[in-house]
Order: sequence, then C-alpha cells, then structure tokens
Amino acid sequence: AVGIQRRLRNRAEVIRTLPVRDPFSHKGSHGRGLLVAGAEGMPGAAFFAARSALRSGIGLLKVCVPDAVKPVIGAGVPEAMYMSRHQLNFESITGVAIGPGLGRGRDEEALVLRAVEESSEVPCVIDADALFHLKTHLDVLRARKVPAVLSPHAGEMARLAGVSVKEVERSRFALSQAFAQNNHVYLVLKGKYTIITAPDGRQSVNPTGNAALAKGGSGDVLTGILLAFLLQHEQIMEAVCNAVYVHGAAADELVKRGHSLLDVLATDVIEMIPPVLHQLY
Ligand code: APR
Ligand code: MG
Repeated sequence: AVGIQRRLRNRAEVIRTLPVRDPFSHKGSHGRGLLVAGAEGMPGAAFFAARSALRSGIGLLKVCVPDAVKPVIGAGVPEAMYMSRHQLNFESITGVAIGPGLGRGRDEEALVLRAVEESSEVPCVIDADALFHLKTHLDVLRARKVPAVLSPHAGEMARLAGVSVKEVERSRFALSQAFAQNNHVYLVLKGKYTIITAPDGRQSVNPTGNAALAKGGSGDVLTGILLAFLLQHEQIMEAVCNAVYVHGAAADELVKRGHSLLDVLATDVIEMIPPVLHQLY
C-alpha cells in the first residue's frame, strides 16, 4: 500500500522511547497489570510471564491462576498478588495479558472472551492458548476501544489466518499487515526478525534475538515484558517494539557472556533483562 512504513528498529530509537521513571513516582504510576495464565501441570508459563513483567518495571502485578498452581508460582514470584479464577475481575487494572499455559478447555475459552471484552479500555496482550480460543471469536477484537496486542508464532498465526505455516513463512509481511488491519490489532509475528504491525498497517522489524530463544518458555517471557511495557509507554507501538527488542537483546547478551545457543533457559533470559535495561538507560 502507498505510504505504508516498514522500518528496522534500531537501538537509538529504543533508548529514545523507553519510559523515563519520575523520581517522585509510586507503584501506582507504573501500571496495575493482570496476568491470566497457567494450568495444572503447566505452572512454568505463568511464572515466566509474571517474573518478566516484574523485571520490566511493572508497578503492581496481579496473577490469576487455578488454585492448584498458586502455591508453585506464589513461592517463585512472591512480589505478585494472586486471585483465583472464580475471583477474576478487572477493577482498577490498567493492562491485561492472557494466554501463557492457560489451557484449551471450555472454561479457558470463556476466560479469554471475558478478558478481551472487559479490558476493552486498557491494553491487552493475547498469547499462546488465548490465541487458540480467539480463533472462533475474532469479532470481539474490533469491538475493543484500545486495540489488542496479539503475539503469535508462525504456527499460531497460520491457525488464526486460516492458512498453512508454509504460507505464513512465504508472506510474513503481507499476511501480518492484512491481519492487523482487518482485525484492528497490533500484531507481533514472532520468529527470527519478528515483525510488529500496527492496526494502520505500519510495520517494524526487530533486529535482536537468536536461536537460543528457540526453546519452550521464551514466548512467555516476551508476554511479561509486553505487559509491563504497555503499562509504562504512552504509545502502544513503541511499547511493543521496545519489548520485543529487549527480549531479543537479553538472549544476545547471554551468548555474549558465555552461553551457547543450546543451553539458554527462559529463566536465564529473564535474569538478563536487568543488565540489558541498564545498558539502554
Ligand atoms: N531467532 C530469534 N528469535 C527466536 C528464534 C530464533 N531462531 N526462535 C524463537 N525466537 C523467539 C521468538 O521470536 C519468540 O519471541 O522466541 C520466542 C518464542 O516464542 P513461542 O514460539 O511462543 O515459544 P513458547 O511460548 O516458549 O512456546 C511454548 O507456547 O505458543 C505456545 O503452544 C505454544 O507450546 C507452545 C508454548
Ligand atoms: Mg508461545
């Protein structure tokens, strides 16, 4: 399309657009986020996303997980507050992320619909199993006041768009652009050179990250950073581009500091967020 921008994100832009922390700020100034994630037997995904959000500057984080998951993640992320699924509410929440390790049952489908509808006026990240449920309810996206942020990998994108994974890989730019515009969303099509597309079709390509991230849990870390950054940036596009950049930069830094591409764990990526942010500030 004429006039549509497509740019490679660069370090200077990230440095220029990262949120400045007001010396007189308090925890409420940096967002009250809600993470809806985790299923019995899959506590890791919720843990990764929650800890990443806290490492990325979020002021307050509430985590909604099944009761069976609470003791596991509660011990690992004591900084967060916890709510049971039957207590789910969006009161005073300024941003939502839903999906990591959520599960694919009917109950989870209802949770996703509620989250997308009731968070209409604040940013909402939709990932993993939440994307699975969303496929049959794409109409709810257009009804939102604040466009949602969807973060599919190629397989999830293929299912959402109703095409083959091969087709996604053949036309990553055109496909994500059409999807973002048609559904009024910010789309993060993950993989090497993740493409971020705004609802108006503008596109940004991320230069950071490496194959060390090709391991279960990496995407959950990104979801947490996305939630935290959405609550601290004025503009959604800047928040999303910066989150993807920092996530990839953490993996690059690990390799620079002596990790191989084989051994990196999601927890390693999370603990590399602080030095990466330190370099950017
Ligand atoms: N180069 C750069 N970045 C990469 C590479 C690579 N070769 N491989 C993966 N990544 C990055 C992606 O860009 C993305 O940010 O790692 C992340 C992987 O995210 P996901 O594919 O979502 O992986 P993950 O969330 O760990 O998968 C676990 O979640 O999406 C569901 O059902 C899915 O079972 C899966 C589960
Ligand atoms: Mg994933």
